[in-house]
Amino acid sequence: MTIIAAVDSPADGDALAARLRRVAEEVAREAGDPLKGAFRAAMEVDYKVDLHDPVTVHDRRTEALIRDRLLGEVPDSAFLGEEGGEIGSGPVKWLVDPIDGTSNFAAGLAFWCVSIGAVADGRILAGVVYDPMTGNLFSADLDGVWLNGEPLVPRPAREEARAALITGFPVQRDFRLDGRETALADFGELVSAFSTLRRPGSAALTLCHVAAGWTDAAVGFGVNAWDVTAAILVLRQAGGHYRPLTLGKVPDGSADQLCPGYVAHGPGATYPTLDRVADRIDARRRARAA
Ligand code: IPD
Ligand code: CA
Ligand code: CA
Repeated sequence: MTIIAAVDSPADGDALAARLRRVAEEVAREAGDPLKGAFRAAMEVDYKVDLHDPVTVHDRRTEALIRDRLLGEVPDSAFLGEEGGEIGSGPVKWLVDPIDGTSNFAAGLAFWCVSIGAVADGRILAGVVYDPMTGNLFSADLDGVWLNGEPLVPRPAREEARAALITGFPVQRDFRLDGRETALADFGELVSAFSTLRRPGSAALTLCHVAAGWTDAAVGFGVNAWDVTAAILVLRQAGGHYRPLTLGKVPDGSADQLCPGYVAHGPGATYPTLDRVADRIDARRRARAA
């Protein structure tokens, strides 16, 4: 009997989630560690949509390795990766970004990771985010969240004026969607409200930094399921808050990981400027899409 067919009670669900987490941990390390050798070496870079969207041979190779290993370990599962699309079928679906933070990886900036999430019936069961450069491995299942195998303990949130915010906003796409002046005005409001605003890239690693309390908040307006699925579970299991935004691109009520925008922060925080700016952008894009 396959591991998935064996699930018929909540306890079995927890056991399945734990099993998927362990598989994802092993595969993330196997895929991520060799990337350290490729990092900062000469590499071929292609571009997908435009010059703001690079991809390297390592993204494609790493995704193929992860796909083969995951489907080998859990044959009755489906796989969706950023580079190669969807393959396989089954009650569990893997959502994988082989390198989240490709622009950083291609440039030689050490802020990128491997992200592996597992979903069943729209619910995130397991998530692993591995940063090979630091060796930090964040993992979560239905029972908890760990950093390098130790329970991840949330830190108290700081008030907005003392807090650090990470965002990739705005990028060229945001200028196209909202207009350059409008997007820069929104960005300026966040710069003024927070003590520190940083744009390091990698939504998955950013959300794990929020989970660990290494930064206070994050906001994004152009993420895909492979960017955020694993990290949503890491953040929530650490007591953090993740609020999806549909931005008029997916129906209301869509699964959180399918929504293209989010506001995230640590436990118990209230960030009024962040909420106001994010809600304004969400409302503007919803109105345009209507
Ligand atoms: C991107 C990064 C970036 C986020 C984008 C993602 P990639 O993924 O996570 O921080 O703002 O929305 O597409 O292209 O580096 O895998
Ligand atoms: Ca990504
Ligand atoms: Ca990627």
